Amino acid sequence: MNARTALVTGANKGIGKDIARLLAAEGFTVYVGSRDPARGKRAVAELGTGARPLVLDVTDPDGIERAAARLDRLDVLVNNAGISPSLAPPAECGIEEYRRTFETNVFGVAAVTNAFLPALRRSPHPRIVNVSSGTASLTWSTSPNPQFAPGTGGAAAYRSSKAALNALTVLYAQTLAEDGFKVNALAPGLRATDLNPQAAAAGGDPAEAAQGALHLALLPDDGPTGGFFSWDGTPVPW
Ligand SMILES: NC(=O)c1ccc[n+]([C@@H]2O[C@H](COP(=O)([O-])OP(=O)(O)OC[C@H]3O[C@@H](n4cnc5c(N)ncnc54)[C@H](OP(=O)(O)O)[C@@H]3O)[C@@H](O)[C@H]2O)c1
Repeated sequence: MNARTALVTGANKGIGKDIARLLAAEGFTVYVGSRDPARGKRAVAELGTGARPLVLDVTDPDGIERAAARLDRLDVLVNNAGISPSLAPPAECGIEEYRRTFETNVFGVAAVTNAFLPALRRSPHPRIVNVSSGTASLTWSTSPNPQFAPGTGGAAAYRSSKAALNALTVLYAQTLAEDGFKVNALAPGLRATDLNPQAAAAGGDPAEAAQGALHLALLPDDGPTGGFFSWDGTPVPW
């Protein structure tokens, strides 16, 4: 067993799998979180040395507890699992879609983080990376020269869930700072994954985004906490 351990949720494909690959290359024992055991095993076989399967549905409280009980110590938690069910603007977004999206993107992160906190507290340099989205930036959403066209208001459930995740990032960072934690949010940029049709069609290389997550996972003790960073390390306005 390698000394340092990491857990990446939703790591059976997409950006999460690339984050797991980079952490394994750094020498971590990486738990590849996957809600589907077969998909998780396939990813672990592909990732090779250092990768271990961990069945983890971030919306399943009992499953989270079972997964947390398997890890004694955890150095890095990457809350990556996320869904983007539609690009509907608020007036066309049903409450069920909000519930489902927040269940995974917000409540799932809180449940997983809280369950793994005891293991993280056993690390000398605990790091939490929350995979957010630049589309959650209220500044970018409202500024005159925005990355996301103002007035479109699309993907309301997804973007509001990631804005809530950003808020949680700040609150976790503040309350865990004394204990040596670094808790930051990542804006990976649009990446070619299965997240939604827009990402699949127009996205860039997910591996590039994973580099941003790795950077936040390896922050030194004098590094930032409670921040929101783009994949290239530049700060993103809230
Ligand atoms: N791609 C982009 O352009 C982009 C941009 C900004 C932010 N992001 C964020 O990046 C993260 C990764 O997304 P991606 O683009 O790599 O999409 P993806 O290819 O669809 O991967 C999402 C991962 O999350 C997992 N997942 C979904 N619900 C889960 C649950 N309840 N429990 C455990 N795992 C669950 C999926 O598992 P299954 O295979 O079982 O479905 C999959 O492994 C997400 O948080 C997303 O919001 C992506």
